Amino acid sequence: MTPMLSLATVSAAYGSFQALFGVSLDVARGEAVGVIGPNGAGKTTLMRVISGILPMRDGTMSIEGREIGGLPAHRVVEQGIAHVPENRRLFPRLSVEENLRIGAFIPSARARFAEQLDWVYQLFPRLKERRGQPAGTMSGGEQQMCAIARALMSKPKVLLMDEPSAGLAPIVVQQVFELVHRIRAEGLTVLIVEQNVQQVLDVVDRAYLLEVGAIKLSGTAAELKGNSFIREAYMGL
Ligand SMILES: Nc1ncnc2c1ncn2[C@@H]1O[C@H](COP(=O)(O)OP(=O)(O)OP(=O)(O)O)[C@@H](O)[C@H]1O
Ligand SMILES: [Mg+2]
Repeated sequence: MTPMLSLATVSAAYGSFQALFGVSLDVARGEAVGVIGPNGAGKTTLMRVISGILPMRDGTMSIEGREIGGLPAHRVVEQGIAHVPENRRLFPRLSVEENLRIGAFIPSARARFAEQLDWVYQLFPRLKERRGQPAGTMSGGEQQMCAIARALMSKPKVLLMDEPSAGLAPIVVQQVFELVHRIRAEGLTVLIVEQNVQQVLDVVDRAYLLEVGAIKLSGTAAELKGNSFIREAYMGL
């Protein structure tokens, strides 16, 4: 079956610094897949390349078999990929609802803004309660919820999440991972970058280990949880 998202031998660079070396990965429809790896491995770069923020240098990339390599970011959103960026990147002085409106910037989403808003408020009732509050005054967990909701406003098929648990207290981290379950239950496909390896392996089906810009190993969540290298280097076990 055609994968929902497929990357083959993708390379990317910042000027003369090469950050990704021939990365290949597939995500099936409805699957949740993790990308783990140390600081500076290229995880954020990978997400930025998929969403068209950073053009790839080489390779191919497709969604449901349609090539997206080389498309500008807004066209990638139109193809059904939404990105929850590292550090959330909300507009702190704008209200929750104004932030959500920004997520619905593509014409198709603008046309069904009210419907999408109902959907995300149903998924995240807390945001509805706080719709008029400046986003920057919400708790870290609420802000992460808002960043996820903003991405969902474009009605994506694939949600890219870059370290959604970063900077959150352990109990809130747990809540953020529960959101991943809720998003999957809505039929979305998820690609999630995390340093919280133990917990992410509880919510994904499979994961890839990225080190120095290359995929070092991959497997099912159960395989990686049992892998002695992953356990020692990334789970502190
Ligand atoms: N705008 C940029 N210009 C130049 N180099 C960059 C830029 N952004 C990232 N890099 C470099 O690319 C490499 C990969 O960075 P990236 O942010 O993708 O790592 P990461 O795996 O997301 O790390 P972290 O876990 O700390 O978020 C790093 O060596 C980084 O210094
Ligand atoms: Mg990063």
